[in-house]
Amino acid sequence: MPEALEFDLILYPSPALRKIADPITAFDEGLRRTVQAMLVLMFESKGVGLAAPQVGLKLRILVLNLEGDPEQPDLNRVMINPRITDRGGEKTLYEEGCLSFPAIYGEVERPDQCTVEFCDADGATCTETFTGFESRIVQHEFDHLEGILLVDRLSPADKLRNKAALDELIEDYKDQHAG
Ligand code: CO
Repeated sequence: MPEALEFDLILYPSPALRKIADPITAFDEGLRRTVQAMLVLMFESKGVGLAAPQVGLKLRILVLNLEGDPEQPDLNRVMINPRITDRGGEKTLYEEGCLSFPAIYGEVERPDQCTVEFCDADGATCTETFTGFESRIVQHEFDHLEGILLVDRLSPADKLRNKAALDELIEDYKDQHAG
């Protein structure tokens, strides 16, 4: 048994979060271990979704569990190379957070419904339509694969309200990457 992978969260404003992620081409043991380690980190961090760029991997992988509950593994969703083929329904406003933006929250407008084509961890192609909270998580995590972040989606008022926390993240990043 190889040792389990362990990831750390990549926080804003790391440039790793701005890269457009590359498609997965090999559905192998390495991919399954990566997915497993992403789920572990998501649950440890009390998140409901996580995208590979948030663990420093420039890859098109998302995991989510709409309850953020490791005791409900039937809610786990793994999407490899997802493509949103349709968005529809009413546009809704809902408060979002992001594991890469600790303590920052703001309302984001998104269409209620999305249809996604993706592969599972074994490479089987799936198409599913999501609504409500799960659809929102899928759209938020999909944004990460395109280098789009919560801060880009905040209203000017929410950006201002979160300015101190955003500035602190930038300062922390500078401190850790000085010299
Ligand atoms: Co996020």
